[in-house]
Amino acid sequence: MIKILTILGARPQFIKAGSLSRELLNYSNIQEVIVHTGQHYDSNMSDVFFTEMKIPTPNYFLDVGGGSHGEMTGRMIEKIEKVVMIENPDWMLVYGDTNSTLAGAIVASKLHIKLAHVEAGLRSFNMKMPEEINRILTDRVSNLLFCPTNAALDNLKLEGFDNINSTIVNSGDIMLDGAIYYEGFAKKPLNFGFSDFILATIHRAENTNNIDRLISIIEGLNAIARHKTIILPVHPRTKAIMKELGLEMNFVLLDPVGYFEMIWLIKNSTMIITDSGGLQKESYFFKKPCITLRDETEWVELVSGRFNVLVGSDSATIFDAYKNFVFSNDFNGNIYGHGNASKIILDNLLSYS
Ligand code: UD1
Ligand code: UDP
Repeated sequence: MIKILTILGARPQFIKAGSLSRELLNYSNIQEVIVHTGQHYDSNMSDVFFTEMKIPTPNYFLDVGGGSHGEMTGRMIEKIEKVVMIENPDWMLVYGDTNSTLAGAIVASKLHIKLAHVEAGLRSFNMKMPEEINRILTDRVSNLLFCPTNAALDNLKLEGFDNINSTIVNSGDIMLDGAIYYEGFAKKPLNFGFSDFILATIHRAENTNNIDRLISIIEGLNAIARHKTIILPVHPRTKAIMKELGLEMNFVLLDPVGYFEMIWLIKNSTMIITDSGGLQKESYFFKKPCITLRDETEWVELVSGRFNVLVGSDSATIFDAYKNFVFSNDFNGNIYGHGNASKIILDNLLSYS
């Protein structure tokens, strides 16, 4: 029997954990202890995912939400350390690139707990992004690195990971496991009356903390909204800033929705416009063109395959992409693996124990 301590904190991590926890039901020789840092805490940013995806209730809830990066990460480190002392796990498992990921990685490496990183090797090459810092530092101290793509694998090789005492596995993308399984649970949001719409999300610090960028993005979306309805489930970070700035928006704002409703919105949309990492891939999984409101992306294979176009924040460029970009509609490849990343991850955790 091995014990894994899983660190969760933010919405996309709950969604990924939904697939792993479900797969774990097939493994009587692995015990999972779940720690929720509290980074995301509103019920529509956290509880809804645990409830609808039947993710086991966290064994520990650390209640560390909000504050600056240093405050948040520092408080998480302090509290995760205490949990590790109590649980003494064989492995710590972290997902992605959030502050919760980094906090877990620091504790595991200092307490000599083996660390597994799901979504290893992704790079935007933009060191101003908090996520880039988090993922580089986490990868460096991980023992088992689960890469979702060949590009992620290549990034690690180029950084010299062949000379570091760690194991790199191409597991495919765990979000594909979830997209395949949960597609059948897609649920129309209550009282939703639109049928021909674009789905958009905005939450990245680089877009929301830079007022000029945010205003320009909203202008771009407003221009598109003159031709087509835009539905935007708003992240609380973005909502707070939009309210403060009193921006005029010609599109439909929703509160954040659960994953089942999100899948319905994706499947029923004509196009996605987003700065989300997860949503760029889900556009591909559900065969929708995607315009990405960033200057770079970690999911480079979507851009080279013309499934996704990077437009940054310039309003005219955003509108031009909507009007004129020719997207590929050949979605038959398997660039994100085969939807069995959870199994690959668990099998490797067992064999390297
Ligand atoms: C975080 C991750 C980002 C990820 C995103 C997923 C980091 C550095 N960033 O960004 O990589 O893409 O989660 O959604 O870890 N807030 C609420 N209620 C909540 C959660 C957040 O009101 O339930 C507000 C708080 O004011 C908080 C702000 O949103 O200060 C930002 O939250 P935070 O977790 O710091 O960053 P995200 O933008 O969510
Ligand atoms: N998502 C959701 N409800 C929403 C917005 C997003 O369930 O209102 C899902 C989305 O489909 C994807 C994940 O949350 O699976 C992405 O999270 P987010 O965009 O917050 O973070 P990122 O992927 O950029 O780290």
